Amino acid sequence: MDSTWPLIKDVGGLLKRLKRLYEYEDTITRLFPTLPEQWSFSRVDALVLGYFFQTYSRKTVVLDIGTFAGRSSFYFATQPKVLKVISVDPNPLVTDEIEDISMLVDLSVDLESFQDLRVLDLARAALAEFADERQKVQLHAGVVGSRQVGIQRDFLESVDEVEVPVLEPSDDVSLVAFVDGLHTKEGVQADLEAIFKRNPQAIAFLHDCRGYWGPFVQAGVANFIESSRKKYNFHLFEHLGPGLEAPNLGIVYSDLGAVEVNNFLLKLQHPLHLSKLVLAFGVSTASHKLQRILRKAFTA
Ligand SMILES: C[S@@+](CC[C@H](N)C(=O)[O-])C[C@H]1O[C@@H](n2cnc3c(N)ncnc32)[C@H](O)[C@@H]1O
Repeated sequence: MDSTWPLIKDVGGLLKRLKRLYEYEDTITRLFPTLPEQWSFSRVDALVLGYFFQTYSRKTVVLDIGTFAGRSSFYFATQPKVLKVISVDPNPLVTDEIEDISMLVDLSVDLESFQDLRVLDLARAALAEFADERQKVQLHAGVVGSRQVGIQRDFLESVDEVEVPVLEPSDDVSLVAFVDGLHTKEGVQADLEAIFKRNPQAIAFLHDCRGYWGPFVQAGVANFIESSRKKYNFHLFEHLGPGLEAPNLGIVYSDLGAVEVNNFLLKLQHPLHLSKLVLAFGVSTASHKLQRILRKAFTA
């Protein structure tokens, strides 16, 4: 077999799922044109996450903490090795959520268009247009670890606590979490504690490890690691290569999950594997016409 075939196949897979994500984004924009776009992970983050699921050998259940318009839950559901996505959000009014953040980050959003909509209504409406992915996603109004909802708001006593699924390593299915809910030190620490309490082999990706929220998220990770009896590791994803911005992601894992994670991190730094990511990213951001031609070539 031609030695370039695995490369073409991998790039093709990454592209296919990135394309699906862009279709979901277009759907959100069509349904909710005034919704801020910058709250979700970047395209480079999507590339790193997509590559993780491509290289990770096990089937997974994803616990997606912080649903908002469902972009992360949708993207995880596009990954063939992901069996189920449990997406959890306390489900505030969209206007409350936007007001909460816009006190800290400069945003000017027309709030009138959202009226009584809640964040899970956004996700439900967009997911309804994607039957395959929709089947994998379970949306839950509640919290996982932190009972505080929103940076400026109070603790909620009455909010549902969604149980973290317990997965035995022998079942050949692992828990992967995506922590993107409350971006305070206490919020991140509480979510990590809830994830790992009964799943020491879980792997947790954290969004917003850089930029405005970076110090709070990283402080939450540090507190979690310092206060745990088991040994946990944290890796902040670095700038991958030419033309790619630094990912806004980190990963937390115990020594029990270290072999798989280290394998993935080594691949990310290897020139051959890196070239796949640079290529997939380049193609996915090319003009529509060029994208069609290249996608055809890579998914043939
Ligand atoms: C940055 S958005 C999530 C973006 C989403 N992951 C994506 O990729 O599009 C943060 C979400 O976290 C939710 N949230 C706030 N406090 C939370 C908590 N304690 N637990 C879980 N989610 C929370 C907010 O309602 C908001 O919808």
